[in-house]
Amino acid sequence: MNASDAEEDDRMQDLKDFDKTEAGVKGLVDSGLQKIPKIFVRPAEELAEDLNHKSAQIEVPVIDLGGLEKADRRKQIVEEVRTASETWGFFQVVNHGISLNVLDEMLDGIQKFNEQGVEDKKKYYTRDRMRKVRFNSNYDLFTSRTASWRDTLNISYSDPDQTDSEELPAFCRKSTVEYSKHVGKFGKILIGLLSEALGLKPDQLENMDCSKGHRLACHYYPECPEPELTLGTAKHSDPGFITILQQNQINGLQIFFQNQWVDVQPIRGALVINIGDLLQLVSNGKFRSNKHRVVANRLGPRISVACFLSGPIDMDKVFYGPIEELISEENPPIYKEVLLSDYVMKFIAAGLDENFLVNYFKV
Ligand code: OGA
Ligand code: NI
Repeated sequence: MNASDAEEDDRMQDLKDFDKTEAGVKGLVDSGLQKIPKIFVRPAEELAEDLNHKSAQIEVPVIDLGGLEKADRRKQIVEEVRTASETWGFFQVVNHGISLNVLDEMLDGIQKFNEQGVEDKKKYYTRDRMRKVRFNSNYDLFTSRTASWRDTLNISYSDPDQTDSEELPAFCRKSTVEYSKHVGKFGKILIGLLSEALGLKPDQLENMDCSKGHRLACHYYPECPEPELTLGTAKHSDPGFITILQQNQINGLQIFFQNQWVDVQPIRGALVINIGDLLQLVSNGKFRSNKHRVVANRLGPRISVACFLSGPIDMDKVFYGPIEELISEENPPIYKEVLLSDYVMKFIAAGLDENFLVNYFKV
């Protein structure tokens, strides 16, 4: 065995030991450690590369959805959504109609779930993708190059109305059912705006089932004693159509834009919206699915809840390709048509930090 094989073996053992605690990163922090374990330390060349990209002082667009029911105002909003989706692939929305109370309760439930006794939390710890409610640290723990400073409770339902509350942890049961209802409704409004912003009929994306699928990734990023050595979430783009994210007031989310990392400043009550790879694909590249990441922070916990709209559950029957109305002689299709289940399998196999859409689905 050569030195690097031995190192690889050691690393695998460390990952297994960490996973076996079923206590996540929060468990490490609670044990009072001052240095982060090696499995979380990013390779030197990656840390060095980061120094080449300054953090920028520009701001992600904030779109006020107030007055959406008035035709004039709606037109303006659609225009703002179009510009943001074509350039950033990200925007924040305020006055979206989900009350502060519903948002706060959701974050609060996730905080309580993570901060309860380890023994109760462990009941949900699993890597079994068939389970609808899964708690674990790093879904890609054994395949990613470096582990991230984050624990996640995943809640997947095909439809917010089908949320079976019995399966949900008691601490976040009521809040999740309530939030799911609201975010599901808002998702449809958003998909309508995006459809218009593409120059399509308002219900065209909805009719393609783009507002279907409802998976909540509820992230808990504990305070980190050495934040400069690790990340909360590695650089990635989201695979679905759109992501609706709510974050608490602890910074961390950054977007890679014009070769710089731009902070997405927390705005109380706002939601962060981003275009996913599938919307980039069906829009034939008109809308951008942008890379983003979460940096670790000496302060914590950062809590965020991402709702992914990723298409219908009968994934082995649906195909997605560039929308006919959006292709022409000057605009030939740049992506292939994909079977949704095939697409999802490839995403899972690819790992977060990969140029997944371009590598697999470019014409
Ligand atoms: C994600 C994501 C950002 C955050 O879950 O895909 O990018 O702030 N989350 O947690
Ligand atoms: Ni993401």
